[in-house]
Amino acid sequence: MTPAETNNSPREKPIALELRKAGKIFRSDTGAEVRALEDVNLVVRQGEFVTLVGATGCGKTTLLNLVAGLDTADSGHLRLGQGLRFGDNIAHVFQHYTLFPWRTTLSNVSFGLKMRGVSRRQRQARAAELLARVGLSGFENAYPHELSGGMRQRAAIAQALAIEPKLLLMDEPFGAVDDSTRAELQQMLTDLWQDNHTTIMFVTHNIDEAIVLGSRVLVFTDRPGRVSREFEISLPRPRNRIAGEFTDLFVSIRKSLSGQLD
Ligand SMILES: Nc1ncnc2c1ncn2[C@@H]1O[C@H](COP(=O)(O)OP(=O)(O)OP(=O)(O)O)[C@@H](O)[C@H]1O
Ligand SMILES: [Mg+2]
Repeated sequence: MTPAETNNSPREKPIALELRKAGKIFRSDTGAEVRALEDVNLVVRQGEFVTLVGATGCGKTTLLNLVAGLDTADSGHLRLGQGLRFGDNIAHVFQHYTLFPWRTTLSNVSFGLKMRGVSRRQRQARAAELLARVGLSGFENAYPHELSGGMRQRAAIAQALAIEPKLLLMDEPFGAVDDSTRAELQQMLTDLWQDNHTTIMFVTHNIDEAIVLGSRVLVFTDRPGRVSREFEISLPRPRNRIAGEFTDLFVSIRKSLSGQLD
């Protein structure tokens, strides 16, 4: 275990968020019901990097939306830890690109600061610093359509970090990029997390990604989704995908996703 890992995932850290018996049912106009989430219990502690894996349609995006305050649970409860507030210090990187197409990269990244009344000079300096941090120096004046998919995801991460979030919610942010770009983005995000100690909840379909990034992996059942298993990941970073412990974890998570006992 690296020192950074020890600092970031101790069990005694204060709670960032807690869901107890949370459920969400969507009802269509015709009265048909989709039980998206049921009986979700989870606790995330400050500074943790929690990854969530589950089949498509099991309610992962729905869960992040509840935590972001974009939707409300029908049952159970959600508690945010001290200092966390909806619409203030919780940032969201959505499943699909969400940069404003009519704004430059710099303007996209600084937008959240503009909304918070930060002066133009300060927000531009902060945005430029973040763009440098995610490897996008020189692209400040480019528009989203002029960036590659991986670059847009870097910009979206810089945009989310601009407000200095205490909780960063990421919904399959690297789903649409090639493998080598994905590995680079994973490393960049790990570095940012180790430097900033931000609490992160990261949704992915990809078991490998969940193990590479997470200090804990939560496995969801099929719909209605709930947490069926969790795996502490104490492997040293950067993580070696061909190490025996990594592949053992991969197999255990694969089995629990398909409902097999290990
Ligand atoms: N606004 C909505 N209205 C009606 N049904 C919805 C709504 N949002 C989600 N659902 C349904 O809830 C279920 C869970 O959807 P959700 O998007 O949370 O899944 P997911 O785990 O994020 O899937 P994916 O991995 O494909 O992104 C799905 O059956 C979906 O059709
Ligand atoms: Mg989703």
